[in-house]
Amino acid sequence: MRVLLVDDERTVTRTLGDSLEENGHDVTCAYNGDDASKLISEELFDCVISDIRMPGLNGIEILKQVKEKQNDTEVILITAYATVEQAVETIKIGAFDYITKPFMNDEVIMLLKKIEEIKTLKHENSNLKEKLNEKFTLDKLVGKSKKMQEVFELIRVIAKTESSVLITGESGTGKELVANAIHHNSSRKNNSFIKLSCAVFPEGLLEDELFGHVKGAFTDAKQAKKGRFYLADKGSVFLDDIDDMSLHTQVKLLRVLQEKEFEMLGSTKTIKVDVRVIAATKRDLLELVSKGLFREDLYYRLNVVPLLLPPLRKHKEDIALLTNHFIMKYGKGKKIDLSHEVEVIFMEYDWPGNIRELENTIERALVFAKDKEKIFLKDLYLPDTEEEIPNNKSLLLKDVLNLYEKSHIRKVLKKTNGERNKTADILGINRKTLWEKIKYHNIDDVTNL
Ligand SMILES: Nc1ncnc2c1ncn2[C@@H]1O[C@H](COP(=O)(O)OP(=O)(O)OP(=O)(O)O)[C@@H](O)[C@H]1O
Ligand SMILES: [Mg+2]
Repeated sequence: MRVLLVDDERTVTRTLGDSLEENGHDVTCAYNGDDASKLISEELFDCVISDIRMPGLNGIEILKQVKEKQNDTEVILITAYATVEQAVETIKIGAFDYITKPFMNDEVIMLLKKIEEIKTLKHENSNLKEKLNEKFTLDKLVGKSKKMQEVFELIRVIAKTESSVLITGESGTGKELVANAIHHNSSRKNNSFIKLSCAVFPEGLLEDELFGHVKGAFTDAKQAKKGRFYLADKGSVFLDDIDDMSLHTQVKLLRVLQEKEFEMLGSTKTIKVDVRVIAATKRDLLELVSKGLFREDLYYRLNVVPLLLPPLRKHKEDIALLTNHFIMKYGKGKKIDLSHEVEVIFMEYDWPGNIRELENTIERALVFAKDKEKIFLKDLYLPDTEEEIPNNKSLLLKDVLNLYEKSHIRKVLKKTNGERNKTADILGINRKTLWEKIKYHNIDDVTNL
């Protein structure tokens, strides 16, 4: 280790210095506080060993200076006049240890060994953490469940290819994030990534957006307009809600996929483009194909690599990880946990709005949980003014309480092996009420809990 040894007593620096060097450390000496201070600001040391009483800056001030720099240099202080108060103070400021004169050189060597071990551990730990993080994230996506890990793997593989992708998943499952990740991990990452939802444009307008028009193509076409495919040349186009595309536009899209060409509205000039199409849908496209609402040939063209995003209720193992991720995102770096009841609710709840709903729930809870270390049930309460309730899918108070009640009854039933009299006693309700609640919550096979 690189060690800075500071003492105005030259016999100390010489004998201790020699002994440290014999043990393989690289030692620099300073004979007063001011020289030491200069060295600290200019060089990097793993450890500073300093006397407390010296001419100029004293050892405590040196310790403060080292700690201010916030690097991981450790400080060992030495003094001939030890008092308990002083020892406590130095440790509080962040000294690694405190030695009194006279001391054996071996004492210092042992301390350095300890520091070295801790540094190695810290280093390994941060490497490990980084690796873990790397494994459980892909761009902005996080997930460690088998299902999500498979999705990540698929994204990595797909990204390297040129084929079209069809992402299918319920609302809020991360379709757009996945599309982003595919583009940003592909060789097209430095070219444009253009997103467009087919659901927001009425039939004719979507075509106009995608392919553009020349001046005079229709009554209002006072100027030529470039379409998204033109602008996305060499890049990727994300077509969200592809199920909303009309059959007419589907024909044109198919041609872009097959021939890599199209014409602007009102023009006969063929334009060549090189775009990768990533499409997304919430619906079962094959079902639409069978109803004649989606072209079969386009379906197979798009669905070269199907990417199915599971609903959150099918990978609840990720809830804790996602929760932490969103707490980090919205909690301004504060460490905040979920209270036990909220953990239970999060695991019991079905999350019809999937990861987006979890994200919104946490963002809102953090507003209510201001200045706290935990999110409690009541922080999930929604404001009572109607317009502030964002959608009917959020965790409404009554749903939360219902879920909690169900979970609690199940837990007690499990404890009593399904004995209803005992359960009702523990819950402080009568048998009839218990029976009604079991029926209401659909708790059937308690032996199977
Ligand atoms: N695996 C994930 N890790 C972290 N955040 C995620 C993940 N999946 C989704 N999110 C977050 O959830 C929200 C919804 O994601 P996204 O918009 O990609 O979903 P979507 O499937 O496109 O939803 P919709 O169908 O409603 O358009 C976003 O804020 C996104 O950041
Ligand atoms: Mg989306």
